[in-house]
Amino acid sequence: MSEPVVLLLSGPNLNLLGERDPAVYGAETLADHVAVASAAATERGLALEHVQSNHEGDLVDAVHAARGRCAGIVVNPGAFTHYAWAVHDALATFDGPIVELHLSNPAGREPWRHTSVVAPVADGTIAGFGGAGYRMAVHAVADLLEA
Ligand code: DQA
Repeated sequence: MSEPVVLLLSGPNLNLLGERDPAVYGAETLADHVAVASAAATERGLALEHVQSNHEGDLVDAVHAARGRCAGIVVNPGAFTHYAWAVHDALATFDGPIVELHLSNPAGREPWRHTSVVAPVADGTIAGFGGAGYRMAVHAVADLLEA
């Protein structure tokens, strides 16, 4: 039997991690974070799939494709966090644990980052722990799946 799949979704500009504002987002690349998330998934008997897009509709499509197929979702929606209601609505149709993830702590940054339209449809949020958050988020999904 194949392992349950956790979908890791990465929103806009996260493809530039490593180059983009390292003082805020760290020196690791997105590939580094995906490797950490994959290792955590393996540890918990899960498989990890990763989708990154700079386009809102691609993230909506990825959530639709996960419905009935993936066990859980970890989502760092990037700036879509703060206004992308279509991502909110898509996630609301997903029947499984959803963990919102941020490298930085948006609550401690500019006021426009204080609102998350994803938070109301997530089981919880991990923010401000840098790359360690990727490991934490996968473990949070695994814990919720086991609960
Ligand atoms: C981010 C926080 C968002 O406010 C920002 O737009 C990002 C990255 C984070 O991981 O800290 O692109 O989601």
